[in-house]
Amino acid sequence: MRSVATEPSSHSALTGSFDGSAILWDVSSGEARQALRFHAGQVNATAFLSQTRFITAGQDGLVALWTAAREQPDRVLDGHAGPVVALAVAEDGRIASASWDGTVRLWAGDGSPLSVLRGHAGNVNAVGFLPGGDVVSAGADGTVRVWASGRESGWVIFASPAAINAAAVLGGAVALAGADGSIRLIDASGRNLGEAQLLDAPATALAASGDGLLAAGGADGSVALLQAPSLRVIRSFAPAQGPVWALAFLASPPRLLAGTSRGPVVTWDLASGARLLDGSDGGQAAAATTGGESARVFAPCRACHSLGPDPGNRAGPTLYGLFGRRAGTANGYVYSAALGRRDLMWTAETVARLFEIGPAAFIPGTKMPDQKLVDERDRADLIRFLEEATKPR
Ligand code: HEC
Repeated sequence: MRSVATEPSSHSALTGSFDGSAILWDVSSGEARQALRFHAGQVNATAFLSQTRFITAGQDGLVALWTAAREQPDRVLDGHAGPVVALAVAEDGRIASASWDGTVRLWAGDGSPLSVLRGHAGNVNAVGFLPGGDVVSAGADGTVRVWASGRESGWVIFASPAAINAAAVLGGAVALAGADGSIRLIDASGRNLGEAQLLDAPATALAASGDGLLAAGGADGSVALLQAPSLRVIRSFAPAQGPVWALAFLASPPRLLAGTSRGPVVTWDLASGARLLDGSDGGQAAAATTGGESARVFAPCRACHSLGPDPGNRAGPTLYGLFGRRAGTANGYVYSAALGRRDLMWTAETVARLFEIGPAAFIPGTKMPDQKLVDERDRADLIRFLEEATKPR
């Protein structure tokens, strides 16, 4: 996952993928509610406007505003001339988007353009709103800039010796993740409040919790929990695979979510530090009932697919009665046009093929996130499991 944001009151998370899809999750149950596909290219940033409205931003330079349960964005904000890599939402509902075109754009909550903030030399990697509503941005030029509300000219409050990859606002302070592996904390006038040389690798992701905690992630896959303002490390998490691209806290249940290069979002229980498995207990429960290894391959599918009759649809359709079913015909599920149009019967062969070459190649334009089972034995296990578990009862 390339990006992740959380919405506290509905325990939701919105993740953005390298394959261009975005997924709305229920963090408490580990179930995916909705799969969204709009962007051409990776989804670099996501944010919530409310429980039911959210934003995605892509490598394609577009920012999309969504309402939950709708298939396509309500509005697409077009203006950036390069990838959009960070988003922020102000208390008054304004939206800020930061882009590698060197600008930050401000938009009203309904998506109307407000202003274009120019000044950074090079990629803008991070954007946030300070408590008073001013915009703060940081980027590859190492500068941190503040832009007063309603003004298009900003001023440099801090110049770091290294590029800044990410930032997080916590209270009146701003935390910065440096390409030199440092985490810095400055106040809104640029005064240095603290600095920690945390990593040997570039720091790539930052998140602030509501209660003075910071999470920092690095290009080496490491993730640490820091106390602000001391920047003392209070916990280190087992490294993820590949760079940590995004981090987000959820207060209840207390979780830290990380987007990394491979696989679904990584979730840690903040109280115990334990890593939670995706698809929750699904795999084990299924293994217990249907006996064996074959259920293991299905564990990641379970977040999006149930196996029972109605109402069984999660982000993906129920797989109940899959074999011998025509593609795109589960009751009450709204398919992508690409899958809905496909004249195809699901059989052991077609399902195996789907995961041999991956959904993106098998059904171009599908909203099922791309995933493969490269090992033939895994595909055989999956089919064996599905044949048993999706049998009409
Ligand atoms: C992150 C969510 C997600 C995961 C994980 C996922 N899928 Fe899907 N799946 C979807 C969505 C969304 C669709 C509908 C695609 C469309 O409309 O284009 C879908 C469609 C399907 C279909 C076609 C169903 C039909 O009615 O035509 C099959 C079969 C399927 N998935 C199997 C699996 C299996 C097996 C796995 C695990 C190896 C899996 N999926 C993992 C989201 C997911």
